[in-house]
Amino acid sequence: GKAIRVALLGCGTVGTEIVRLLTEQADDLAARVGAPVELAGIAVRRANKPRPGVPAELLTTDAAALVTRDDVDVVVEVIGGIEPTRDWLLSALEAGKSVVSANKALLAEHAGDLFAAADASGADLYFEAAVAGAIPLLRPLRESLAGDRITRVMGIVNGTTNFILSAMDETGAGYAETLDEASRLGYAEADPTADVEGYDAASKAAILASIAFHTRVTAGQVHREGITAVTPADVAAARGLGRTIKLLAICERVATDDGESVAVRVHPAMIPRSHPLAGVNGAFNAVFVEADAAGQLMFYGQGAGGAPTASAVLGDLVAVARNRVVGGRGPRESAYADLPVRPIAQA
Ligand code: HSE
Repeated sequence: GKAIRVALLGCGTVGTEIVRLLTEQADDLAARVGAPVELAGIAVRRANKPRPGVPAELLTTDAAALVTRDDVDVVVEVIGGIEPTRDWLLSALEAGKSVVSANKALLAEHAGDLFAAADASGADLYFEAAVAGAIPLLRPLRESLAGDRITRVMGIVNGTTNFILSAMDETGAGYAETLDEASRLGYAEADPTADVEGYDAASKAAILASIAFHTRVTAGQVHREGITAVTPADVAAARGLGRTIKLLAICERVATDDGESVAVRVHPAMIPRSHPLAGVNGAFNAVFVEADAAGQLMFYGQGAGGAPTASAVLGDLVAVARNRVVGGRGPRESAYADLPVRPIAQA
């Protein structure tokens, strides 16, 4: 069939990996999609930076022009940040281009606008890579469990803090020295604030809750507490109780006087060592899901990194490209449940 043409926004670690996989697996991808998948252009901030394996003739610094170009069918966004990325994705969707994004901050804040634009033009909006990297999670929640009623989604969705808490549990060392070690080993960012204060996990929790409960939760509505106050004494006390401390993102339906609401929170929690999440150590992520008919499910894997994130992005790209080839659309995303979000309890 006619080629599916892709505009890539961003060419850092993840973007470079996407270009590599698109090139190396071109034949397989074409067979799976039913049409060749071709790069139409790659928007970057600096066009003259050396990028091994990336065709220089595809580079442009004009993202705004690229996303609405007539020959583009799908926009893949791995830049991050809210503005100007939000504007570019909105204009792409308004122009009928399907969008695949890895941008958790954007989806946790502006999913409503983006879905409205997608619904208006009939385009697809997929973002598996925004939560827990390579782990297939959003599509199982959206599609495989679409016939069920999800009651709770609870998980370890930040690798940096899980690495630190696992190391503290193993060595008995303090938070600050463990963070230093994590930075030295490259597991923590130069500025670890978003991870250790729980903002990163709160964005992911907002996205998970929105999908699982068919409602709209934003990051600011998530009760958030990070790991900076966890002490060796806390870790030892948990151990004495047969427990371990994990930074959990917990999204659940809660009964209220006049019905039901959604409660979403991120905080360190003592969990029994026998719980499946207790064995998730190092930089790994895992999410535990409970649904009425399915019962308990657990998703486990790599939540960050160039290749794992690229795997999730390419999976979405294949899905939206297939939809284009057959003239269909992925699941509608309009929130319909209208569940009130339980207000954050003030300390
Ligand atoms: N900083 C994040 C983490 C990266 O540590 O999990 C993935 O979003």
